[in-house]
Amino acid sequence: MTLKDAALSVREKAYAPYSNFKVGAAIRSASGEVFAGCNVENVAYPEGTCAEAGAIAAMVAAGEQSLAEVYVVASSPQPVPPCGGCRQKLAEFGKRDVKVTLACVDGAELETTIGDLLPGAFDASHMADV
Ligand code: THU
Repeated sequence: MTLKDAALSVREKAYAPYSNFKVGAAIRSASGEVFAGCNVENVAYPEGTCAEAGAIAAMVAAGEQSLAEVYVVASSPQPVPPCGGCRQKLAEFGKRDVKVTLACVDGAELETTIGDLLPGAFDASHMADV
């Protein structure tokens, strides 16, 4: 299955009764396997989780820790940009040059990379003296 199809399909399963904004994310891990996640909201709003977080959790739970490609889709007027927290989560598991495709359900796409989404990212090298 392509990342696009996986993201579109999982987006349908999103639980977003508060925002009515459904998001789907699909990631390809280093081994080539595809993992998908959708946003899961909560009546206690801050407890909701983003689609990207769900996809990353599925990858880690399957025993993988390296991202090769990312695709995120929502019904937005512009290709949906990941929130700040998700940018940091993507940077935890993917190198700067990993391709991230942001998309609208109507087909518009914007290609970027993890590095461009989070320039100057805080990473483990900044804790070298700890
Ligand atoms: N959301 C995601 O799942 N991923 C993003 O990249 C942007 C925002 C979700 C969180 C919340 O459930 C809804 O979209 C509105 O913010």
